Amino acid sequence: MAWLVTGGAGYIGSHVVRAFGAAGIDTVVIDDLSSGHESFVAPQTAFVRGTILDGALLADVFAQHSITGVMHIAGFKYAGVSVQRPLHTYEQNVTGTATLLGAMEQAGVDTIVFSSSAAVYGTPDVQLVTEDTPKNPQSPYGESKLIGEWLLRDQGVAKGIKHTSLRYFNVVGSGDDDLYDTSPHNLFPLVFDALLAGRTPRINGDDYPTPDGTCVRDYVHVADLAHSHVAAARRLEAGDRLEPAYNLGSGDGVSVREIMTTVAEVTGIDFTPEIAPRRPGDPARIVASGELAARDLEWEMRHSLADMVSSAWRAREAAATSAG
Ligand SMILES: NC(=O)c1ccc[n+]([C@@H]2O[C@H](COP(=O)([O-])OP(=O)(O)OC[C@H]3O[C@@H](n4cnc5c(N)ncnc54)[C@H](O)[C@@H]3O)[C@@H](O)[C@H]2O)c1
Repeated sequence: MAWLVTGGAGYIGSHVVRAFGAAGIDTVVIDDLSSGHESFVAPQTAFVRGTILDGALLADVFAQHSITGVMHIAGFKYAGVSVQRPLHTYEQNVTGTATLLGAMEQAGVDTIVFSSSAAVYGTPDVQLVTEDTPKNPQSPYGESKLIGEWLLRDQGVAKGIKHTSLRYFNVVGSGDDDLYDTSPHNLFPLVFDALLAGRTPRINGDDYPTPDGTCVRDYVHVADLAHSHVAAARRLEAGDRLEPAYNLGSGDGVSVREIMTTVAEVTGIDFTPEIAPRRPGDPARIVASGELAARDLEWEMRHSLADMVSSAWRAREAAATSAG
């Protein structure tokens, strides 16, 4: 009896696999390593290298392992790049999800948790995003995640699958020093890479209508996020009714400048960020309520901003050291 984790060699997936392990639930990982790392998968975890677009491979995985549920985390996550590569984004995130749901149906597996995103909301003009805030994705990436949610919903209606989607906000931090975010587009890796290369980190725009002029986002720690995946899996398996989607957000915003200050404190590197022009399409503020997830999925901010920055920095430094 195990859960299949798609994308389990990625940043979030690898944390989810470890949280399942800590909860005593076995996992099988499928990952094509397009952005993941085999070293993020512990040697004792069953690992299948391949793509979720390969229905025959998925059928084999379901036949060979006794899979009771699927944690569908694999995806192409670069919203900015998705504008240039819409077909690739739709193939990975929509065709991939449809292929997976088809293989589950064939194999009689009826439980799935899906990694969705804050990007389904686009740039909402509200103080606090709730699950009912209108969906207005502004990139092929956001659109593909919303369609992913619809695919689960429609399979629920047609075939009675048990499902929920988790809309992540800005996921940061590390739960273990050997796992870290390697995205070339996310704020933390960008700032750390700059510091490690002796460059000055950059803030894109300091003239937004926010208290310090820089963008405000909703940062959540990856280990807290992973914990709620286990809760979602357990509740679906127990037959509990869950909402179709949950925001995994903190209810609290942090500005890019506050992040920079915390990074300087944590790393001991004294720097004054460079101010660059705004990036097109960056909203001033996005902060979400995680109340529903707190009610149903043991969602809680167990880590402070300093924890988020220090755990991410430790893991990034360890990686830089081991790379020589
Ligand atoms: N990191 C964030 O802040 C964030 C926010 C919102 C949503 N998400 C979503 O969470 C999920 C995980 O994000 P992450 O930050 O861990 O990214 P990541 O790139 O580290 O992980 C994605 C994993 O999926 C694998 N993968 C991609 N396409 C695949 C395919 N066709 N078949 C098999 N494996 C495939 C990659 O190799 C990688 O290991 C993604 O679906 C992403 O869209 C992430």
